[in-house]
Amino acid sequence: MTDTIDVLLSEDVINSRIRELAAQIDADYAGESVTLLCTLKGAVFFACELAKRITIPVFMDFIQTASYEGTKSTGKVSMKLDISAEEVFGKNIIIIEDVIDTGRTLSLVKDMILAKNPASVKVASLLDKHECRVVPFEGDYIGFPIGDEFVVGYGLDVDQKYRNLPYIGVIR
Ligand code: IMP
Ligand code: MG
Repeated sequence: MTDTIDVLLSEDVINSRIRELAAQIDADYAGESVTLLCTLKGAVFFACELAKRITIPVFMDFIQTASYEGTKSTGKVSMKLDISAEEVFGKNIIIIEDVIDTGRTLSLVKDMILAKNPASVKVASLLDKHECRVVPFEGDYIGFPIGDEFVVGYGLDVDQKYRNLPYIGVIR
């Protein structure tokens, strides 16, 4: 069965917004370096495109959480792949996420990173469904605020499908 997907954000629109976020990060961390801590798997596409447009020194690291099954939140967040304290200590960490929805994932991840004593922690998310928060949480670098709709593409999936779409779309 093939789904019909309506384009919400085109590749061009996404990439020009990512260029703006990269410029903002360059300015905010001028003279320093940043570690982009990418949350697998959804944020991989965003993290790579962002990293390519940042001009200050960039390091990449990865963690993996799980909170979703299908299109409904399970309400539980677990760590599948963690990062060691040495890799965080004293670094400027920017946690990279695909979408902030309930806020559960990032509030857990941010606390977990803070406990490892970084120099600083900020959060960059390609999308923000602000009206869906269950746990209060604010991102620092947001690509696009969107409404309460389930989106796919540019790394975002439904049951592991559609991550490779070069745009963000809504399944009709
Ligand atoms: P939160 O803990 O509810 O904020 O969950 C965030 C995670 O849920 C994201 O990292 C995604 O993996 C997943 N998620 C939330 N909304 C969507 C969506 O519209 N499409 C695909 N995945 C989503
Ligand atoms: Mg995710």
